[in-house]
Amino acid sequence: MKKRVLVTGGAGYIGSHTAVELIEAGYDVVVADDLSNAEMTAVEGVRRITGAEVPFVKADCSDPAQLFPIFEQYPVDAVIHFAAFKAVGESVHKPLDYYRNNLSLLITVLEAMRKYGVENIVFSSSCTVYGQADVLPVTEQTPRKEAESPYGNTKKMCEDILRDSVKAYPGLKGIALRYFNPIGAHPSALIGELPRGVPNNLVPYVTQTAAGLREQLSVFGDDYNTPDGSCLRDYIDVVDLARAHVAAIGRMVGGRSKAPYEIFNVGTGRPVSVLELVHTFEKVNGVKVNYKIVGRRAGDIEAVWADTSYANSELGWKAEKSLEETLAGAWNWEKHRRGIE
Ligand code: UD1
Repeated sequence: MKKRVLVTGGAGYIGSHTAVELIEAGYDVVVADDLSNAEMTAVEGVRRITGAEVPFVKADCSDPAQLFPIFEQYPVDAVIHFAAFKAVGESVHKPLDYYRNNLSLLITVLEAMRKYGVENIVFSSSCTVYGQADVLPVTEQTPRKEAESPYGNTKKMCEDILRDSVKAYPGLKGIALRYFNPIGAHPSALIGELPRGVPNNLVPYVTQTAAGLREQLSVFGDDYNTPDGSCLRDYIDVVDLARAHVAAIGRMVGGRSKAPYEIFNVGTGRPVSVLELVHTFEKVNGVKVNYKIVGRRAGDIEAVWADTSYANSELGWKAEKSLEETLAGAWNWEKHRRGIE
């Protein structure tokens, strides 16, 4: 019997790529999304890539009246819970919206799982929980720091809600995946990131600048204590990241979890600076990115990258794509969307 996975936030950037990889790995998938920050075109892209029907339910998963019927209609073996607000800057101005939405989403999903006897959940966490770590790269044992933003705090709090729930409810298993910086797009260029308005994140800003939609990229700071003075991050291809979810689901439904609650870093283990990323993008794609160095962005940390050895050995998963390949994919997606070439 095929296993079925409910993907909340499955019309979003990481959710849609994960739906594809799940289907290609032999799972059935149900997508639930309220489309508040996602487009149906992503679900259609998933259907086109996989040739699968992929049931979609438009639902706010923080509302039991909308979520529970999905569990009734589509019995599932596991949930991957992506649905959440994710804009760091916005969270500073609207903390209550972020706390209410992100916490009640996870709580409602866990309540539904209890009600319908679903025992496996993967939660989208973030390397933001490490803050500026004292020792790099960060391992899963690196202490979490005080969150820099309400958004970051919701990731910490949701990890704790999951940990405590797993402790209290026998049979329940959870895996928190701490993502580093997801970038790139599916090689088909049928799905990718769809930022609304001016992008906050580096790579969409780079691709939109190269496409002429933005005049100039601001590089936030060249006076950090790093080799070229710009910040270091661990940029992971979204397809590699999606495959880490497949590995996590396989571990849980295959009964290979070593503990009811587990945490894995999902990165490449390679630090890349902002300037290195921009120059690599230019080189790989043969385009110029107009940029200027400006002051530091408030709340940015200097450097973070993953020690991935635990995920590599325990999940049997490893990021495979090179930065070059990933940045070529990011540009391909932007061109495809804009009808360039
Ligand atoms: C940010 C969040 C992180 C969240 C992640 C989700 C902050 C402080 N952190 O990560 O919590 O999980 O997004 O996507 O916001 N940069 C520029 N110019 C730009 C945009 C970015 O120089 O126009 C630089 C930043 O200073 C940073 C790097 O590029 O050094 C990556 O930035 P970004 O893509 O926004 O991700 P993070 O800030 O690492």
